[in-house]
Amino acid sequence: MINSLNDRVTLNNGTKIPGLGLGVFQIPNQDTAEVVANGIKEGYRLIDTAQVYGNEEGTGDNSFKDSYLALEQLYKDGKIKAIGVSNFQIHHLEELAEYATVTPVLDQVESHPKLSQNELRDYAAKHDIKIQAWSPLMQGKILKNATLQTIADKYNKSVAQVVLRWDIQRDVLLAVKSVHPERMQSNADVFDFALEQSDMDKINEMNEDLRVGPNPDEFDF
Ligand SMILES: NC(=O)c1ccc[n+]([C@@H]2O[C@H](COP(=O)([O-])OP(=O)(O)OC[C@H]3O[C@@H](n4cnc5c(N)ncnc54)[C@H](OP(=O)(O)O)[C@@H]3O)[C@@H](O)[C@H]2O)c1
Repeated sequence: MINSLNDRVTLNNGTKIPGLGLGVFQIPNQDTAEVVANGIKEGYRLIDTAQVYGNEEGTGDNSFKDSYLALEQLYKDGKIKAIGVSNFQIHHLEELAEYATVTPVLDQVESHPKLSQNELRDYAAKHDIKIQAWSPLMQGKILKNATLQTIADKYNKSVAQVVLRWDIQRDVLLAVKSVHPERMQSNADVFDFALEQSDMDKINEMNEDLRVGPNPDEFDF
């Protein structure tokens, strides 16, 4: 479990990355440089652009297989440090395991209290693949939830901080987006408290397998 914004998580090939990163997806191009600069000023050292080189979604067809094998070659040639995947369900990871000789270091998927991804998390943990959550705040839609507000009041924290802390304690890596420096700062201020197990359980019980983004099994990537 990470203990600071600067703390690195060691991936299955020894590469280390920050456990809490700043997402910049869909920020207008002309604003992105300033947002990234502000993020770096606030201490973020992982910037997720959702255009990460070679980060592919789980289509399961041959074009994906060819892409993955090409990435493996780049990895073996020392041109890239690690291979990650995105939006892979368990069956995508199982299919990948049939031909891959390099296990992906992480799987970036939609995850938040309404989509806790526990089964995928267990499967990934068994195979030493980290889960990294995108839309960890459900694109802001989780922030008015009454259960979370009660928990937040108990710790004198915001709902966003409680949700991010829940992920940190369950070993989920994070890409959280904000264009506002004060929110970047408060989203990173999650290392001075710990959720009790009973509160972790309450948040775990909120799962409804509800998505704000596309279902990887239904979306034509
Ligand atoms: N691999 C993929 O397919 C994929 C798909 C989607 C996203 N992603 C990645 O995941 C990142 C995060 O996901 P996301 O941007 O969809 O959603 P998110 O991080 O769950 O939520 C971002 C929204 O919450 C607001 N917000 C952030 N912190 C807040 C706070 N403390 N208080 C109140 N509101 C707050 C932001 O508004 P402001 O900006 O106005 O503060 C924004 O509207 C993306 O930026 C991208 O890098 C990856």
